[in-house]
Amino acid sequence: MLKMIGVETFYGKIKALHGVSLEVLEGQLVCILGANGAGKSTILKTITGLVEPEYGTIHFNGQRIDRMDAEDIIKLGIGHVPEWRRIFAELTVKENLQMGGFLLKEKDLIHERMVEAFHHFPILEKRKDQQAGKMSGGEQQMLAISRALMLKPKLLLLDEPSLGLSPLLVQDIFATIKELHKAGTTILLVEQNVNHALKIADYGYVLTTGKIFLSGTYEELLDEEKVREQYLGEGKYNRRAKVWSG
Ligand SMILES: Nc1ncnc2c1ncn2[C@@H]1O[C@H](COP(=O)(O)OP(=O)(O)OP(=O)(O)O)[C@@H](O)[C@H]1O
Ligand SMILES: [Mg+2]
Repeated sequence: MLKMIGVETFYGKIKALHGVSLEVLEGQLVCILGANGAGKSTILKTITGLVEPEYGTIHFNGQRIDRMDAEDIIKLGIGHVPEWRRIFAELTVKENLQMGGFLLKEKDLIHERMVEAFHHFPILEKRKDQQAGKMSGGEQQMLAISRALMLKPKLLLLDEPSLGLSPLLVQDIFATIKELHKAGTTILLVEQNVNHALKIADYGYVLTTGKIFLSGTYEELLDEEKVREQYLGEGKYNRRAKVWSG
């Protein structure tokens, strides 16, 4: 479904991605793991056309998208839930969802999708007329995901959905992601919460300073001493935060 080959993205003179190649097959849940500043968000922003790669190619369902406008990429069916959720804090839950459906011409369809979102996340229905910024972090994350789902994307990009959530809410959000995946959504998930992410993913890529340095299934990555050491509870693993500190 998605294929990136040799992608290099710069911010001015700073090279953030050093020839990244990765693939997401239809129906898969693929995760990208890596520490702060590794380039995880840049990969997602490059896919959605928010930044343009200097080199390399990106294909989505056989179509080249690396020179396309962000809005055209959305129209092809790629949804993006950015880092820190970025909901419209001043607007209500309902208004946020309406904004998510901005490309839908029929009001009925917007309503239909909203009902679906409320079905997935009953708490959002309760809060539908509430200002979004006043909700808890977990609820805001559910709203951010629902907003992206308003256009029924073929591929959903999630940028650290567990960021800043309490352990209990983290479990909720991963359960939600697992459900979405089970229901047939193809997902590319960026995370630092390695244990949770790898457990639900079909395939994982480990990114360090703009380069993919390992990739494989959960079992394959478990076999890698470096991954175990840095991510999964052995060696220099950060037990308290359960995230990679390396
Ligand atoms: N707008 C920008 N201008 C300049 N440099 C940037 C910009 N955005 C990111 N960078 C740099 O690009 C590199 C990759 O950043 P990116 O945000 O993709 O990392 P990340 O893996 O998502 O990190 P985090 O876990 O903190 O979200 C970092 O060195 C960062 O400082
Ligand atoms: Mg990031």
